[in-house]
Amino acid sequence: MDGKYSRRQFGKLAGLSALGIAATPAKAAAQPAAERHAPASFPDGFVWGTATSAYQIEGAVNEDGRGRSIWDTFAHTPGKIEDRTTGDRANEHYHRYRQDIGLIRDLGVKAYRFSIAWPRVFPEGAGAPNARGLDFYDRLVDELLRHGIAPYATLYHWDLPQALEDRFGGWRSSETSRAFADYAGHVAARLCDRVTSIFTINEAGRFVDFGYGWGIDAPGLKLPRAEVNQARHHVALAHGLAVQAIRANGRAGTRAGPAENIAACVPAFDTAENVRAAEMATRELNAGFLGVILEGKYTDGFLQYAGKDAPKFTAAELKIISSANDFVGLNIYAPQFYIVASDKAPGWRMLPFPASFPHMNSEWLKVGPEAIYWAPRLAAKVWNIDTIYISENGTSAEDKLHADGQVYDLDRIMYLRNYLRQLQRATSEGVPVRGYFLWSLMDNFEWIFGFEKRFGLYHVDFETQRRTPKFSAAFYRDVVARNAIGG
Ligand code: BG6
Repeated sequence: MDGKYSRRQFGKLAGLSALGIAATPAKAAAQPAAERHAPASFPDGFVWGTATSAYQIEGAVNEDGRGRSIWDTFAHTPGKIEDRTTGDRANEHYHRYRQDIGLIRDLGVKAYRFSIAWPRVFPEGAGAPNARGLDFYDRLVDELLRHGIAPYATLYHWDLPQALEDRFGGWRSSETSRAFADYAGHVAARLCDRVTSIFTINEAGRFVDFGYGWGIDAPGLKLPRAEVNQARHHVALAHGLAVQAIRANGRAGTRAGPAENIAACVPAFDTAENVRAAEMATRELNAGFLGVILEGKYTDGFLQYAGKDAPKFTAAELKIISSANDFVGLNIYAPQFYIVASDKAPGWRMLPFPASFPHMNSEWLKVGPEAIYWAPRLAAKVWNIDTIYISENGTSAEDKLHADGQVYDLDRIMYLRNYLRQLQRATSEGVPVRGYFLWSLMDNFEWIFGFEKRFGLYHVDFETQRRTPKFSAAFYRDVVARNAIGG
């Protein structure tokens, strides 16, 4: 046996036994701090949390007066969901929420971002509210607070009441924007004595194009560009109206803002010219939603590019749309564009991705930790934002449950470690990121992928509904406990 071989063999054997692969996640977390190398701290008071959304976890779709949503219809349409499942049952969180809040508590996080199902509160989208719908969120909020976990509620995570799609064409009509404002005001009046932070709309940048433009998500339409741009405008209007309704009906001090999947631009390499170019690209490539709500206008570049397909709008609408936000939530999973400076207009250029660019278990999820550094830094600069939350970040992984009862999701830990280091780099340089919500608390119904993709810190067996902490849960608990990434 030559030395090389024996070393490799030793490593393999030792790796399996002596180095503690079978160690429980709790043991891994208990390693004394002194043995670690210079940890990089986050600011005092940094908010650590996890996130979920209603349709992805609740199940109980026909209970307590809930109406149908466009996702019920879509998931039940043959051929739309890869593994032919639906969210009918999902994680049964509607009935298991107490247990699930225990899982949040065990991570040591002090914040939880969940979404409220609009069709539970207004089964027909508008008109008479269903009291039993909000009762559930009342109980959820009380239970969170009992455990010292701050509730961050999202009003719209894609489950539009089907009735609004049928009556008005959903987001194709500003009637839906107005119905959303009524719903927002109703929720604020009822929950804002305890819920002090509200995300209005989750990822307009995805559901508008995927749902109304490309037919990939609910409601599965392939509309012409002009109608898609108009729908996005109605979503922006809904956001602004909701901010106003929250201010009018919630308690003073209730904070509101969007949770947007910003088109994350990264300078291909960090020269001053490329950074400046990435700033310009950030503004232009986000002009259709973040831009208009933060600036109160569509950029000239956006309007020129849209041409005859540009949305129709009034000055009064732009004023509503740009009602002041208290924070901006950014969902950041992957770099979307690598940017370099160009001497041709508009002064920047996006580079093509090589086919060999690495990705995580989901093909769309390219690995580029620097995105979580640059996106908030550039957004804060471009729009002068003083409070940013990373409202989602995380990854899917294979997440096999081993015979020893463990899920060794080392790829997720690799991803989180690298992203959190870049986030810490941002906060240490003064980028105003105040908190981070890891997607997701537990495996759930991943939209068109059904239950095939797993993003949770807890593994879920969807037959038995058993929840099992993955190795990454211990990793995250450790980061949260130390308010630092390192070692
Ligand atoms: C975000 C959504 O876009 O990405 C989440 O806000 C979603 O709801 C997550 O679960 C993962 O996306 P996907 O498409 O892989 O399920």
